[in-house]
Amino acid sequence: MCGIVGYIGNKPAAPILLDGLEKLEYRGYDSSGIAVINGHDIDVSKAKGRLQVLREKTNNGKDVIGTTGIGHTRWATHGEPSDVNAHPHLSQSGRFAVVHNGIIENYISLREKLIEKGFEFVSETDTEVLAHLFEYYYKGDIMDAMIKVINRVEGSYALGVLCSDYPDSFIAVRKASPLIIGLGNDENFIASDVTAILKHTRNIYYIEDEEIVVLKRDEVKVYNSDREEIKKDVFTVDWDISAAEKGGYEHFMIKEIEEQPKAVRATISPRIKDGKIVLDDVKLTREDIKNINKIYIVACGSAYHVGVVGKYVIEKMCRIPVETQIASEFRYCDPIVTPRDLVIVISQSGETADTLEALKVAKNRGARILSIVNVVGSAIANASDDVIYTWAGPEIAVATTKAYSTQLAVVYMLAIYMAERLGNITGGQYKKYIKDLEALPELIAETIKNKDQLAYLASRFYNCKSIFFIGRNLDYAVSLEGSLKLKEISYIHSEAYAAGELKHGTISLIEDGTLVIALASGNELFDKTVSNIKEVVSRGAVVMSVTTKERSMTGIADHVIHVPVTNDIFLPSLTVVPLQIFSYYVAAEKGCDIDKPRNLAKSVTVE
Ligand code: G6P
Repeated sequence: MCGIVGYIGNKPAAPILLDGLEKLEYRGYDSSGIAVINGHDIDVSKAKGRLQVLREKTNNGKDVIGTTGIGHTRWATHGEPSDVNAHPHLSQSGRFAVVHNGIIENYISLREKLIEKGFEFVSETDTEVLAHLFEYYYKGDIMDAMIKVINRVEGSYALGVLCSDYPDSFIAVRKASPLIIGLGNDENFIASDVTAILKHTRNIYYIEDEEIVVLKRDEVKVYNSDREEIKKDVFTVDWDISAAEKGGYEHFMIKEIEEQPKAVRATISPRIKDGKIVLDDVKLTREDIKNINKIYIVACGSAYHVGVVGKYVIEKMCRIPVETQIASEFRYCDPIVTPRDLVIVISQSGETADTLEALKVAKNRGARILSIVNVVGSAIANASDDVIYTWAGPEIAVATTKAYSTQLAVVYMLAIYMAERLGNITGGQYKKYIKDLEALPELIAETIKNKDQLAYLASRFYNCKSIFFIGRNLDYAVSLEGSLKLKEISYIHSEAYAAGELKHGTISLIEDGTLVIALASGNELFDKTVSNIKEVVSRGAVVMSVTTKERSMTGIADHVIHVPVTNDIFLPSLTVVPLQIFSYYVAAEKGCDIDKPRNLAKSVTVE
């Protein structure tokens, strides 16, 4: 969703801001803007639509003079996408310019108060309240104004604030919305996401809620709200800059699909030492694991689908009841969570608003929180008792692929780790699981090689109006993800159904020529799924089946996609791959904006 970047240094700020905003485009946005201090005035340029419009308006930033500035990509919440609603927002006199990610929940009452005091509003946003509030509280000391503003507002925010009285500095703060500080040589940055500044520096400060940052060209100071200076540790980001570039691929999505073997290997390999799974970041003792009463898995989107796989795998291996819930439902359902429960939170970005709030609900009820997160130092990671990082590197395409695969890998490792500690598996089984786990990246790579068949199938079916996915158990869990991928990027209506449930309603939608993608990889329920395939075939469906190499589907399915053979519990890592690739090619055939599908955002930082 919204993105922030800020710069102070010796170079012209605008081109650097535009370049940083470009790196944040993937998060999803519908307008953009920059504000730069030019002597003692603040020069603001904003534009609805793609960043290119802002580039054209500012002559690629060359027409905007000044070396201190802030920029923003906005994903509309309060007020339609428009030039006026785009950030930065200026205070009445033009002394302050503000960029904001998050939502100011009490903005209506603040707005009324400010209107009474004579402030005039030009936009429909909650953010404009902040700009005027700075001016209202400012009596010559910007830090004082900042403290008053953050004491007054409720909600979530990451803010970058320019004040024309301080042309050689700017100020930033965050609460429940991500913001990092980039430390350069004679230049410093703020950004909502490290990819925006990776080109300039890898040295960053993570800042905590309500810490106030004053940035100058050659100095960054962080304060608490009592104005006491806080010493921060410099953290060096080891993400490979090329991971955030397309590197010759037409889209980030296909690049990231191909990066899956590497990402899964990077997630698994360092955690297998001397034939044992070592989860250094997990402080759960054997006793803690034995005492777990119930496990909740909470997440959104594809991360939730990983949780659906997790339920099957963890219950099977650990015999602990697992309930997987969508975070936006969990947080409001008054969940029966106790201190004896483990809550596993899954999130690529580590900043999804609903997931973070669900985590807080569980934490307040005393549960232990273990999160599976891709972004180091993110809000969800910081709020958890234990964190297992996925080492997927930056994921830019909105539709997740490699983050999903690395999350799956972590779920497997965790399940095996706990099953061993619970004494549920023999030494021999443990060894075999680890061997299969280590082989997984190679098998994923082998599965990706089947791109041509999937491109051909996509060219046959991209005109479908509706596509159904069916499967049982783990195949059902993967169907959910396959269906979501297709919907997200190709805009084709699609539904995933537990194969046995189809005949309780949805089968009425099957007619001549309806495409059904049937996952039949699991050994135990293979025959049952074949029966379900026959049910849809006899009602006119065309079936594309995903199964393992050892299975023949001749005479059963119209098209068969084979994946390598492995232990059933690891099959989701393989069966999901053809579904990702199929969706990609279908979207490509339809000419869709694959990396930035309409209406979607990579990081959903509002409820
Ligand atoms: C958005 C993204 C999805 C992602 C979901 C959860 O909807 O488009 O790809 O699965 O958010 O995001 P998270 O960062 O928490 O994994």
